[in-house]
Amino acid sequence: MDIAVIGAGYVGLVQASGLADLGHQVRLAEASPDRIEILRRAELPIFEPGLHEMFERGLSRGLITLHSDNVEASAGTDLVFLALPTPAGDGGKADLRIVEQVVDELVPGLGPDTILVLKSTVPVGTALRLQARVREAGWPGAVASNPEFLSEGNAVDDFFRAERVVVGAVSPADARRVAEVYRTLPARIVITDPSSAELIKYASNCYLATRLTFANSIANLAEHVGADVVDVLEAVGLDRRIGPHFLKPGPGYGGSCFPKDVAAMVALSEEAGYDFALLRTVVAVDELQRTRIVERAQRLVGGDLRGRRVGLWGVAFKAGTDDIRESPALKIGQALAGRGAVVVAHDPRARTTDLTMAADPIAAAAGAELLVVATEWADYATVDLAEVAKAMLDGAVVYDARNLLDPEAVRQAGLRYVGVGRGREDVPPVT
Ligand code: UDX
Repeated sequence: MDIAVIGAGYVGLVQASGLADLGHQVRLAEASPDRIEILRRAELPIFEPGLHEMFERGLSRGLITLHSDNVEASAGTDLVFLALPTPAGDGGKADLRIVEQVVDELVPGLGPDTILVLKSTVPVGTALRLQARVREAGWPGAVASNPEFLSEGNAVDDFFRAERVVVGAVSPADARRVAEVYRTLPARIVITDPSSAELIKYASNCYLATRLTFANSIANLAEHVGADVVDVLEAVGLDRRIGPHFLKPGPGYGGSCFPKDVAAMVALSEEAGYDFALLRTVVAVDELQRTRIVERAQRLVGGDLRGRRVGLWGVAFKAGTDDIRESPALKIGQALAGRGAVVVAHDPRARTTDLTMAADPIAAAAGAELLVVATEWADYATVDLAEVAKAMLDGAVVYDARNLLDPEAVRQAGLRYVGVGRGREDVPPVT
């Protein structure tokens, strides 16, 4: 099939490279001159394991062509995937102006059998509204929804080993035509109406955010009642009805999807006349999780962070990515610095100009009385703890906000250890 992908952001790059790997001819369009320049050099503007190789393969086989003009890229294609930004606008509602502009721009040049496919996460009802909009403009083609379920750091695997491919269209025949491109994937194909497809995406992300917030709340309770959340949630997850995923407590959720999608779901529910009280609470409780961690950090240094040297391991919103969007780690670092701490951070991939960055984890810990582990990079679990202890001040504390390190190993190295939800707060502050 001849396919256009509009937008070479994270979603568009995975979609274009994945479809080319499945043997399709893909025209990838990108409006930003800087980005297209990078892509023309066969480089990527983002880091995602395995994606660069896949993108290069598509280019060298001639299965991916690059275009700076959306209309030129879409003309004569069977499917046009829209992988465009939908930033959070007023009141958390997704801002659809970019999607609408591009649809208006494309429609005059599309054939009657082309299907416009929304890949970006859009409010429920968007595909139907766009369908009405293009009809008014005199185009007879269809607008379908095919939400992405990619998680950063694992996107290539998520594409090829997707559990489900969801396609929603007014006509099931159109939905099946879209699903046809994924024929060779092992995924279960779900054909539905456009609004249900859109709601599936939000419901999945909001459920995971809720589940994680529940896990964080159990961790907080464990600190009050003197239980170990690691044992608790491992055993909870052994129940077949529950399963082990998204039960790792930490500093709350971040990234480009969860915060935006949860806020958008609250806003769209409100607009539809339903008060989604559960999700409103999730937002508030998640926000508190970071405050809780910052306040505990403050208590650990005796109640006043001013002038105190704190090391921060991790800036990325999660391990395996250089993405710092809505990063809990970065927010914690900023809050500690905001309370007067002298924060030195390290991250294997992510960079920020908001904090002083050290070249390695030991340098971030050097001279500190508190070390906060904020991103669960596997690299940190193998750092020589004796070196860390040597670099830090006497009596220093490691606050492992991801429960990544082995508490016993940290203590044996001569440091004190505090995790999330791992018993009562009984570590005396550094004096
Ligand atoms: C998510 C969805 O998983 C994906 O399907 C969707 O398309 C985009 O949003 P991503 O943003 O890459 O993907 O992150 P994900 O791995 O889902 O993690 C989300 C947040 O939850 C991160 O901040 C992560 O650190 C946190 N998390 C996740 C935990 O703190 N503990 C867990 O057990 C799982």
